Amino acid sequence: MTKNKILVTGAAGYIGGTFTYEVLKKGFKVHGIDNFINANRNNIDAFSKDFPESFIFSEIDLAKDVSKLKLVLDEFNPDFIVHFAGLKSVGESEEQPDLYMNNNVGSTRNLLENMNPKSFFIFSSSATVYGNNPNQPLTELSEIKATSVYGSSKIECENLIKDYAFNKGIKSVCLRYFNPVGSHQDLIVVEDYLNKPNNLMPKLIETAMNGNNTINVYGRDYDTKDGTGERDYIHIIDLVEGHISAMDKVQKIKNIDFFNLGTGKSTSVIELISMFNKTNELNIKINFVDRRKGDVAICYSNPYKANNEMNWKANLSLERMCKDSWEAVQK
Ligand code: NAD
Ligand code: UD1
Repeated sequence: MTKNKILVTGAAGYIGGTFTYEVLKKGFKVHGIDNFINANRNNIDAFSKDFPESFIFSEIDLAKDVSKLKLVLDEFNPDFIVHFAGLKSVGESEEQPDLYMNNNVGSTRNLLENMNPKSFFIFSSSATVYGNNPNQPLTELSEIKATSVYGSSKIECENLIKDYAFNKGIKSVCLRYFNPVGSHQDLIVVEDYLNKPNNLMPKLIETAMNGNNTINVYGRDYDTKDGTGERDYIHIIDLVEGHISAMDKVQKIKNIDFFNLGTGKSTSVIELISMFNKTNELNIKINFVDRRKGDVAICYSNPYKANNEMNWKANLSLERMCKDSWEAVQK
């Protein structure tokens, strides 16, 4: 029987919204959930308008509204649950640890506890679970170690999912994202650059949009190719495709598996800024400041396992990531 019903949590957000749009286009039926803690209604309104037959939405706080969640799970009975909902700011997680643990772990627990164990579960994890590791690139077997409350919340979610996979037979895949950037070419979902961004790409967009020509770069004395931090930036479209591959993979596994979603390429802050300037004919200049607390020098993936076992590979270039990010906000 065709499996075509997906419950998407965090459907109003950057990655969940882009995923929702892609699977609606592919003909899946989607029940979206969000509580708008870090999103507005724009994406949801657009999906309801463009896909009235196949998109339903419920405003639910997954960490608190268990009875509403239970109702949706019972009525919709999804084939897949793709769980994007969560708070994601590393800095904010240090200031409000209880909020982060309760929200991220509580939401995941409520889903696992109340779902039909026959539904397949796909979870948005993060490369942050690898902490500060000098041995790069990172494989799925690299040491797991939190360097922030946000990181701890992701590790705890992964452990919880493991428990349910082994004890209740919920087949699950945890996807560890590296640094997602860029926007969908249909401009349906744009990365939030308005809400005091901390991450590099939205910060570059904010800088360019405001007509400022300088960006602060945190640290120039790391042991990296040019002294600035190195990361594995991945286009949102490739990342979303990774979830489609995971939906296939999760049906074939025994209990749980973990995959890195990255390109395997390491890019420094200077390289990203140069590419952003070159591609978009901008002239953002660098102002070096002190290292940002909690930052790691290098974090990039060995994507071999996902390439090999999920038949998935990130294809889009750094140039394309820079072009699509800027073009989306221009329009
Ligand atoms: P986002 O903030 O744009 O989307 C998350 C969505 O979840 C938001 O719309 C928010 O309102 C919703 N949400 C949060 N808590 C909720 C709750 N209790 N109930 C219902 N809805 C809730 O973030 P994103 O960039 O789309 O990230 C999606 C997932 O991917 C998150 O779990 C994040 O931790 C993970 N992730 C993101 C990145 C990244 O750089 N963007 C990197 C690694 C992992
Ligand atoms: C971190 C987490 C990631 C999390 C993400 C979301 C790690 C390894 N990564 O990403 O899991 O999902 O936050 O918040 O913990 N930079 C500047 N100037 C800026 C902004 C950033 O120089 O204005 C530099 C940073 O120092 C870093 C690089 O750009 O070297 C990338 O930073 P950022 O985009 O914030 O991502 P991470 O820190 O990798």
